[in-house]
Amino acid sequence: MLYILIVIVLTLVLWHLFVNYHKDARIFRKVPGTPDRFLFGNALEVYVPPDQLFDVRRALAKKFKGIYRIYVYPFRFLSIYNPEDIEIILSGMKFHEKSFLYEFIQPWLAEGLLLSKGAKWQQRRKILTPAFHFDILRQFHITMEENSKRLTETLADVSGETNIIPIISNYTLNTICETAMGTKLSEETSAAGVSYKNAILTLGQIFAQRFTKVYLFIHFLYNLSSFKTMQQKYIDIVQKFTADVIINRKKTFKKNDLDMSLAEAEDDGVYKKRKRAAFLDLLLAAESEGKIDTSGIQEEVDTFMFEGHDTTAAGLTFLTLMLANHQDAQQKVYEEMQGIFGDSTRTATTDDLSQMKYLELCIKETLRLYPPVHFVGRVLNETVKLSNYTIPAGTECLIHIFDLHRSESLYKNATAFEPERFLPENSVDRHPYAYIPFSAGPRNCIGKKFAMMEMKSAMSAVIRQYKLEPITKPEEVRFAGDLILRSIDPIYVKIVKRS
Ligand code: HEM
Ligand SMILES: *[C@@H]1O[C@H](CO)[C@@H](O)[C@H](O)[C@H]1NC(C)=O
Ligand SMILES: *[C@@H]1O[C@H](CO)[C@@H](O)[C@H](O)[C@H]1NC(C)=O
Ligand SMILES: *[C@@H]1O[C@H](CO)[C@@H](O)[C@H](O)[C@H]1NC(C)=O
Ligand SMILES: *[C@@H]1O[C@H](CO)[C@@H](O)[C@H](O)[C@H]1NC(C)=O
Ligand SMILES: *[C@@H]1O[C@H](CO)[C@@H](O)[C@H](O)[C@H]1NC(C)=O
Repeated sequence: MLYILIVIVLTLVLWHLFVNYHKDARIFRKVPGTPDRFLFGNALEVYVPPDQLFDVRRALAKKFKGIYRIYVYPFRFLSIYNPEDIEIILSGMKFHEKSFLYEFIQPWLAEGLLLSKGAKWQQRRKILTPAFHFDILRQFHITMEENSKRLTETLADVSGETNIIPIISNYTLNTICETAMGTKLSEETSAAGVSYKNAILTLGQIFAQRFTKVYLFIHFLYNLSSFKTMQQKYIDIVQKFTADVIINRKKTFKKNDLDMSLAEAEDDGVYKKRKRAAFLDLLLAAESEGKIDTSGIQEEVDTFMFEGHDTTAAGLTFLTLMLANHQDAQQKVYEEMQGIFGDSTRTATTDDLSQMKYLELCIKETLRLYPPVHFVGRVLNETVKLSNYTIPAGTECLIHIFDLHRSESLYKNATAFEPERFLPENSVDRHPYAYIPFSAGPRNCIGKKFAMMEMKSAMSAVIRQYKLEPITKPEEVRFAGDLILRSIDPIYVKIVKRS
């Protein structure tokens, strides 16, 4: 009995000494951070109920300046939120590989563009980049405007205090399906869409559990937990929805005479005037040329369906919250619409959208305060110097976009909503990596222009017809520690028809 006890204690002490005093650990512990505890390091600090993780992270960011470590034995996590270090990590291809935390979502998104690396990522990015070319976005614009019109019709049916979250995510899901996926949701598939969205919310909660419980980092233990079973159930729902979208498009794809030639789609910039292939059609064309197989299409559709609707929904939700709570800004947006459309009820053209300068400032300021993707993670496969500290290879690097965007050293009165800070004359001194809602460098967001266009289309249509009045206050919002910046509670806004 005593023997066993001695062996256990010795093992634990050795483990502790090993994780603390081997070469990489000694270098890493020079980075500022909270004191680590025997056996656990900083694991207990993030071992909190998942809905508190977000606030714990923010408190740590306030305590340190631009860089801190969380050493969850034996995993080394480095958090950075200063533009100089972020530029070093994001600007080149060297650190393009995602953090192992992303493995948690691999059973769902497999090796789609978000998670893949190396040659596979490069080939897919090359195939898919033309799917978001300017010419394609022009085609999408018409569909987006139709959807925005339907959004305003939906708002006519709700009166008074409205939880805007389900209405907005319905809009963005419809839009990604009808544009990139070339599939309009019917009554029946709309219901499947609701299950899809709910399943994603639950998956987000499961991932948040995993982020806070270190033992669940280990795949073997996770596989034994009840979370794993639950996760599989919801992934099945999500993938059934996307698989149906693919099957649906395949039926029409055969008959369809769009110009599918990849060679032409890839040629640099010399686009002919023919109608170009949208996202899912490009994938189906690539399949017929043997460049991608069925599971490849599935993982890309899963990736784009999620990234393409959930992020934009978060952006639009917080934009609505901001405009409702900042009547002065909303009035300026309304006046801008009056200037462009007068009393006409015609839908917006792409030229109209590019004239919506003030609305654009509001969107940018919203994405600063509420970046829908609030962190990104990379594995540092080489030793690198950040803020004068040597970071040993094998460290996981978390880039906290949320904390970066709220740094007082970069933004005066950082928590205030001030769209004017994005006027060109107020932006000259800003470090190019001080504002990265869409990330930056070679692994930046492929759907950035699409998202900006969609948010402008929706919000301009709404503001032309409705006045948004505040119910939920920004300071009441509690955030979930999910992949996407989400409010734990509903967000209520009062929607009033303009006469
Ligand atoms: C406001 C809306 C959006 C925001 C804030 C946003 C933000 C981001 C960010 C920060 C990344 C980098 C992720 C990382 O490094 O881990 C990213 C990547 C990505 N985004 Fe977006 N995104 C938005 C909309 C969209 C849309 C509409 C689409 C698709 C139509 C899309 C598709 C993707 C894809 C596929 C990637 C992975 C790219 C790669 O690794 O090569 N996103 N996005
Ligand atoms: C790290 O990854 C990059 C990109 O894949 C590669 O170019 C580089 O050689 C890798 N470094 C090491 C030390 O393996
Ligand atoms: C979702 O969108 C569809 C299609 O526009 C619409 O018929 C339905 O009423 C919307 N549902 C909600 C809850 O907004
Ligand atoms: C956990 O389960 C997944 C499949 O659900 C499997 O691919 C993986 O190998 C398992 N990992 C371990 C360590 O058991
Ligand atoms: C890094 O070290 C150099 C020289 O020791 C110093 O001038 C510089 O201010 C330091 N930079 C940071 C970010 O601490
Ligand atoms: C900071 O923002 C608040 C609103 O959040 C505003 O009342 C205050 O005047 C601003 N302060 C400065 C110095 O601009």
